[in-house]
Amino acid sequence: MEELTFDILVIGSGGAGLMASVHALAANPTLEVGLVVKGLIGKSGCTRMVQGGYNAVLSPDDSKERHFEDTIKGGAYLNDQELAWTLVSRAPEVVQELEVKVGCFFDRNPDGSIHQKAFAGQSFDRTVHRADLTGIEIVSKLRDYLFGLPVRVLEEQRVLELLLGSSGQVAGAVLLDLRTGRISVARAKCVVVATGGPATMYKLATPSVEKSGDGVAMAIRAGLDCVDMEMLQFHPTGIIAGGSRLTGMILEEGLRGAGAHLRNGLGERFMARYDPERMERSTRDVVSRASFLEIQAGRGSPGHGVWLDASHLGADFVARSFPGMVERMALVGKDLTREPIEVTPTAHFHMGGVRIDTHCKTDISGLLVAGEDAGGVHGANRLGGNGVADSTVFGMVAGETAAELVADLPLADYDRVEAEGVAEAATRYLRAGSSPFRLREELNVLMWDHVGLVRDRGGLLHAAAELDRIEAELETVGVPGGRAYNPGWQEALNLENLITVAKLMVASALHRTESRGSHFRADYPERDDHHWLRRVVTRLREGEVQVTTEAVRFTRLAPGQVEALR
Ligand code: FUM
Repeated sequence: MEELTFDILVIGSGGAGLMASVHALAANPTLEVGLVVKGLIGKSGCTRMVQGGYNAVLSPDDSKERHFEDTIKGGAYLNDQELAWTLVSRAPEVVQELEVKVGCFFDRNPDGSIHQKAFAGQSFDRTVHRADLTGIEIVSKLRDYLFGLPVRVLEEQRVLELLLGSSGQVAGAVLLDLRTGRISVARAKCVVVATGGPATMYKLATPSVEKSGDGVAMAIRAGLDCVDMEMLQFHPTGIIAGGSRLTGMILEEGLRGAGAHLRNGLGERFMARYDPERMERSTRDVVSRASFLEIQAGRGSPGHGVWLDASHLGADFVARSFPGMVERMALVGKDLTREPIEVTPTAHFHMGGVRIDTHCKTDISGLLVAGEDAGGVHGANRLGGNGVADSTVFGMVAGETAAELVADLPLADYDRVEAEGVAEAATRYLRAGSSPFRLREELNVLMWDHVGLVRDRGGLLHAAAELDRIEAELETVGVPGGRAYNPGWQEALNLENLITVAKLMVASALHRTESRGSHFRADYPERDDHHWLRRVVTRLREGEVQVTTEAVRFTRLAPGQVEALR
């Protein structure tokens, strides 16, 4: 197999991967950095899709402590508080860097200061944005900035597996070139995993199609622990647009922040039943579940959703503030400025993921994880606007750590037989067999119906059994066509990873016998702080999922302290 050699291999080109590459080279411009992109650089991943914005403390009337408290309260006290503190304490410097060094331009107030808008679950308007197209601004400018750096970009390549050296340290990864089907090895002293989450395993989902939880799945197979895997966020306002690809994509939270109303099929502002104080500005876990319960109770809209109505805010204001969403709705014949839009909860973001420390280090020497692939930052629910902050802050941290580590890390050797085995396993699908797309549909429906917004033991046990069946059936999959640009082949590989991650999610969800944040158990509907201020830790050992728990460490804020402060 062809071999490439780097100091640092970065896997993923969303906000985390781009920032990791930029910061590794900022620390040491002589490093050889390889960046693996599953799609096209600047065009793939979820950071580019972010409409809403970026939470950071910029105003003297705000404070990092306040942002931290909002994040912990929003996460139902399950967060790793040191990770959450890293997020809020370093977010402002990243906003500064994105503007001053990278060339982003965010919306301004008349006095020239950066405009910050209201997002849900926050005690201060702190969401930095570029209208409602913030991710395009950040990722396009980061990509352009990266073009000026000596990074070797490996586009349209996916990583099949991580490679470890004989003493357990990272040695590199096995890559598959989607354009040619060629399989190669990238050796590196340090690997940063930043591929994004697995929400595409659900029938309705927001992320970009190429995301399939690859990073977490590979980390699981490499033996790492995951935390909070049951915590999958549903965004409350996904578009319902029939068979259009836009179905499941979101209308961002700034609309609710600006005062848009949610109504059920009877015309009621139903949030009064669920969170009368915050109403539509309640956190995503609460609003999504409320919409879901309204629909379940037969009070939904004709398309099995609820109505999001911004028409009373004024057509000019909506058109000026949310041009991206207005255009998107026009594509499906709707006028966001003047009529209510049918929306549904949609799978959005995984709070669970690989266990990391505040330097993005894992239990494998030289292997770092950043962004949505890492667990613990957001606890049981992520605040809107903390996502792009997470990917860019922890991408920066991973880049800094990687540059420091490679000064002392040797290039580990890897097992050639093992690498050949990875290639053989991946190419076994190039044969006659059943369609991977049918299995993907089955997975998506299974996860939506049984591991969705409302769960119970029976449904989760059914999901566990069905995941075993789908995994077994994957062995009958075969894809026609050759190696080059073969979507069926990629789908089979995506499925492998999604199933690996889904198994840990289901095991975690079964284990947590309470309701907290985005994890709601109909058979245990109450939050149980007495027993469950604990993190569910999962891992794979000899093909079996192991589950343990560990107490959350309240290093900065004790449970209930935020509520007592306000
Ligand atoms: O597209 C969005 O505005 C998403 C933002 C978020 O999830 O934080």
